[in-house]
Amino acid sequence: MPEPRGHTASRHCSPVGAIVLLAALLVPLATAGQTRPTVGQAGKDVPWVPTPDVLVDTMLEMADVSPDDLVVDLGSGDGRTVIAAARLGARAIGIEYDPALVALSTQRADEAGVSDLTEFITTDLFEYDLSQATVITLFLLPDLNLRLRSTLFTLEPGTRIVSNTWALDGWDDDPDAGNGWAPDETVVLDPCPTWCTSLLWVVPAKVEGTWRLSEGELSLDQTFQMVAGTLRTETGTIPIEDGRLRGTEIRFRAGDTRYTGRVDGTTMRGVAQTPSGAVDWNATLSR
Ligand SMILES: C[S@@+](CC[C@H](N)C(=O)[O-])C[C@H]1O[C@@H](n2cnc3c(N)ncnc32)[C@H](O)[C@@H]1O
Repeated sequence: MPEPRGHTASRHCSPVGAIVLLAALLVPLATAGQTRPTVGQAGKDVPWVPTPDVLVDTMLEMADVSPDDLVVDLGSGDGRTVIAAARLGARAIGIEYDPALVALSTQRADEAGVSDLTEFITTDLFEYDLSQATVITLFLLPDLNLRLRSTLFTLEPGTRIVSNTWALDGWDDDPDAGNGWAPDETVVLDPCPTWCTSLLWVVPAKVEGTWRLSEGELSLDQTFQMVAGTLRTETGTIPIEDGRLRGTEIRFRAGDTRYTGRVDGTTMRGVAQTPSGAVDWNATLSR
């Protein structure tokens, strides 16, 4: 085959060529004791199976990831979710037990030009402190999600959790039972790229207790993001219906009045839509 114009083949190896050749021979020797990760390999609690890139994008979009976020991927595999989050401008941390996957992720983040926004930590995901995270991404298994659930529920209200396929209620979750932590949103990709379901939860504010309103006393019970209870006024006691939290946002209905508002610790305030018009409301936690 003729050489490209302007180039002549050298029969002798230059010093630079010799170094390149030596490095090419030495690198495989240096890494001979280290196995390159393979899809499906066993992990500490769950094997490494990557989320399809299109589903990673969907999960991050549902979580509304922005440069204001700290995204933590629990069991981060080859780092693809962390890298994708960093490409959106977020700081992102991968927690991964397998050091070879951490090394691969670090290299991939470097190649993607997002090393400054990413960090990969070799540790057990159950040992990691999640309190600073604003978004948590999961592709684990239902029983592992259930083990994490109580920790996730106590995170800062508004923290978003997105999971590839598995809900938070364990293997026996029954969507009709109504006592689990149901997702706030579900997206199923069609066509399905092997794994196609993304589930979103927004950590709700905690409102269980008795609140003082100008019109009476509001007693609230809370099961994850679902809210029930009663409103006691001078004219009687009426049930709270359609009560729901999404982060710090609350909405519920009492009789023919629809309340929407925001929870800020021991106070809530917002707008009540009555049959005769909208009025401001506020409530204070009394016990
Ligand atoms: C199903 S893969 C998901 C990888 C990545 N998050 C993704 O969506 O592409 C689960 C990952 O969790 C890791 N893993 C399993 N148990 C773990 C544990 N206890 N602590 C940290 N990582 C763990 C596995 O090594 C594997 O890389």
